[in-house]
Amino acid sequence: MRKKIVAANWKMNLTLEEGKKLVEDILAGNPALDTHNEVVIAPPFIHITQTVAQLNNISHIHAGSQNCYSEASGAYTGEVSAPMLKDAGVRYVIIGHSERREYFKETDALLAKKTDQALANSLQVIFCCGEPLNIRDADTQNQHVADQLQASIFHLSAEQLKNVVIAYEPIWAIGTGRTATSVQAQDMHAHIRQTLAGKYSQAAADNVPILYGGSCKPSNAAELFACPDVDGGLIGGASLKADEFLGIIAAMKQH
Ligand code: 13P
Repeated sequence: MRKKIVAANWKMNLTLEEGKKLVEDILAGNPALDTHNEVVIAPPFIHITQTVAQLNNISHIHAGSQNCYSEASGAYTGEVSAPMLKDAGVRYVIIGHSERREYFKETDALLAKKTDQALANSLQVIFCCGEPLNIRDADTQNQHVADQLQASIFHLSAEQLKNVVIAYEPIWAIGTGRTATSVQAQDMHAHIRQTLAGKYSQAAADNVPILYGGSCKPSNAAELFACPDVDGGLIGGASLKADEFLGIIAAMKQH
């Protein structure tokens, strides 16, 4: 049975003190997880040591990072490598977020290299895909997302795919308050799983958690997570408030 995951992407928010308090408040809410229900918290890099320390000895809640570089070390001013993240106690790394693709011009080829770096350092990858509004309006989102997967993760072996989680984040739903309907989410998640099955095998595809991201909140999480191919969420804004994030975790546990 594949895992359900709710992952917090704090993006570029919170001071160290605010981040510490948020993790304390989440832990105080006693989310009581098990091997089938995991939580990931991905703060900005500067928080990682603190977050890892706070999650030490807490089962099924892991620290993640929002990015890593495509090389292991060297003269790459301002970057953070996968070996450094592994050494710091990070378990998951988000790769290919649409904000990285758009604002930092990250290409499919670069994302393939970042994925390789993360996996070579025993990190689990949360690989993001998703279409902009004009692609959705043209109804070509399935091809767009299949192309993203093909370009950045289809070079992986079936063995490597076991350490990959996919996050489908329609760009028009990120931070806009406009959520994909559960039908739109389920259709795309089923398409992603079918695309993975076509490349690997049905069994391999059935093991990959596929998360939904984009204005996910406690009020819509239960309906989204009830979809058979939606295995949790990648949460931005609502992950910055302990009560909202706990509400989304509770919705995951119901399904
Ligand atoms: P919001 O939940 O703020 O829409 O952000 C989603 C997201 O981009 C998570 O990575």
